Amino acid sequence: MTDKYIHIKTKSSSVIINTTPVAELVYWGGVIDENSDLFSLFDKPRGHVRLQQDIPVSFLPENGRGFFSSPGIEGHRLGYDWSPVFKTHKIEAKNNRIVIISIDETAQLLVKTEVELNEYDILSIRNTLKNLSAESYYLNRLSVTIPLPEKSHDLMSFGGCWLQEFKSHRINISHGTYKQENYRGRTSHEYFPGLITGTNGFSENQGEVWGVHLAWSGNHRMQYSVRSDSSRFIQAEALYFPGEIILSENEEVSTPWVYAGYGGCGLNSMSHHFHDFIRERVITFDKPRPVHLNTWEGIYFSHNVDYIKTMADEAARMGVERFIIDDGWFGLRDDDTSSLGDWFVDKRKYPDGLAPVIEYVKNAGMEFGIWVEPEMINVNSELYKKHPDWLLKLNGYDQPSGRNQFVLNLTNREAYKYIIGRLRWLLKNHDIDYLKWDMNREVVQPGCNGKAAMQNQVKAIYKIIDCLKSEFPGLEIESCSSGGGRIDMEMLKRVDRFWTSDCNDALERQHIQKGMSYFFPLLISGSHIGNKSSHTTNRKHDVNYRGMTALFGHMGVELDPAKESEEEKKGFINYISLHKKYRDLIHYGDLYRLDFKSDVISGLGVINKNKRNGIFFISQNKMSDYVLNERVIFSGLNIKAKYEIKVIKFMDPSLINGLYMEKKPAWMDTKTIYSGDTLTKIGLPLPVFFPESGMLIEIVLAS
Ligand code: GLA
Repeated sequence: MTDKYIHIKTKSSSVIINTTPVAELVYWGGVIDENSDLFSLFDKPRGHVRLQQDIPVSFLPENGRGFFSSPGIEGHRLGYDWSPVFKTHKIEAKNNRIVIISIDETAQLLVKTEVELNEYDILSIRNTLKNLSAESYYLNRLSVTIPLPEKSHDLMSFGGCWLQEFKSHRINISHGTYKQENYRGRTSHEYFPGLITGTNGFSENQGEVWGVHLAWSGNHRMQYSVRSDSSRFIQAEALYFPGEIILSENEEVSTPWVYAGYGGCGLNSMSHHFHDFIRERVITFDKPRPVHLNTWEGIYFSHNVDYIKTMADEAARMGVERFIIDDGWFGLRDDDTSSLGDWFVDKRKYPDGLAPVIEYVKNAGMEFGIWVEPEMINVNSELYKKHPDWLLKLNGYDQPSGRNQFVLNLTNREAYKYIIGRLRWLLKNHDIDYLKWDMNREVVQPGCNGKAAMQNQVKAIYKIIDCLKSEFPGLEIESCSSGGGRIDMEMLKRVDRFWTSDCNDALERQHIQKGMSYFFPLLISGSHIGNKSSHTTNRKHDVNYRGMTALFGHMGVELDPAKESEEEKKGFINYISLHKKYRDLIHYGDLYRLDFKSDVISGLGVINKNKRNGIFFISQNKMSDYVLNERVIFSGLNIKAKYEIKVIKFMDPSLINGLYMEKKPAWMDTKTIYSGDTLTKIGLPLPVFFPESGMLIEIVLAS
């Protein structure tokens, strides 16, 4: 550390911060060993007709200083103090955590920037703005800006829609800005708040990559900008509605935390940092993930106690460990037009309440979970009759409905008290281990007493979950929002699982689960074996393909086991027991997505930390473009070790010697041992299989 520069580092990355005149990240990448003469490294030349001083791309770049790209802060005091310029006032650096206070004496504003590089190689950054004046400060924007090296010009973003979460998009940006804005009132299916940038053509195993995620469950903006001097940065922020943030004297507001990870050997290496960080620091459960049965696609709203008991018997027989009753148990909810808000047991369906069913499930040896959607209200409900004014809305305007429902104003103290009261009643009076917490509509004109209340609504949801988690130790919660509409790190600090997507179609799940895995580890990604004929796409898949796909996540089944054929059930039993056998490896090992040249075929696997064994899944997504598939090149193995390769399951081997192939590659039939070096350099030849089928391979250290 010199006076001006602070260098923090871990085993595999370094961060160098220039502290004056304001804090600016001047280097973030592979670890730098020596500390010599940093000043001359970062002192930039200047072109003609430019401002005659260096303009830092600080964590909060100011337009008032001459930063001509998107500023980090925008606000005013009724037209005044609209162009602040900060100066570093105080720096505290301890271990790998730095806190920098900067002040604008003229505008009477203070910024606290917190930066930490933790032992998992994740950089966390947040800006907090404080108003030092007696006059209110009207804040329009407050963001976190992270400069990136010029070599990071490929960009990867994620988004899609309901049933199509986490589709990845790649662009190369040499000029201008890529910007994604989400105003949907939840994290959203459309724009996951995460961007990855990297060196030309980066892939799963090659190139340097930098991934940035904004931990926020409401509206957000993320952008990647290339400036005219070819420097570039990512900026991330929560979006404020007009007038939403007005700071009175000494009041402060923080940006959401931004989590960023660097990977020196492709996307897999970046993901390992996020996964380790989440497993070690973010999630709180410490027991194996129980296999689920969720009733939704099995029975939808038709609940009947005796029938549910039959389902529970079948589930237990199949090896299910947690039984979850989905939507339809409360109010008079026979379809999705009514009863949200009426969190009372529907006595028509459960004449003796929920207790007998819960007891039955527990006696069958399973945990019990139940569905709730506490943030919502139907007009067709008792709650709405009593409190039509509890809607989150602006008076004087008509709210559009979404899935026949409206948002409950949780910033209204009475509404908040009512909802947390009903949840407490549910949890105190029933032996419930798990809540599936849903949120099924987008938010329009989120108003309370005429003013914007989106920020406070999101914070109220966090607060309810935090209260319940502390009052009911051991309670687990899944975040679902029409599938994967609310998947982000701030939610993950308080929940135990994400429902990845409402799409259980195994083919679609290949890209959905893979997309989610860039930032999140498999053990929190809900993945269920659905019905043979997918309820959302009508595609039909063999139980083996559905089973292999669901193995790589927090596994469950989503169907009515009582109606399934014995053959299907045999398949569920087989994959549930395979999951139990490998779940420790799958949930706590290192994930390797494999590089293939097109999406005709895809593959991923998990190798345990000591590189002794691994399990890989290869999916033939489409017809091969060639007579043969390309070879599978493994990654993550110890190149000096010898491994035995075993095929756990190859779908329908009768195809071999039949339709596509006359002969299998030799390694599939005989016990074969290869070095890690061979497997990661030459790889193995693959047969062509039917589209929408797959192969499971185990790799074990040869004795
Ligand atoms: C949403 C969820 C589903 C299911 C239904 C119930 O669509 O994503 O999994 O819980 O709600 O209404």
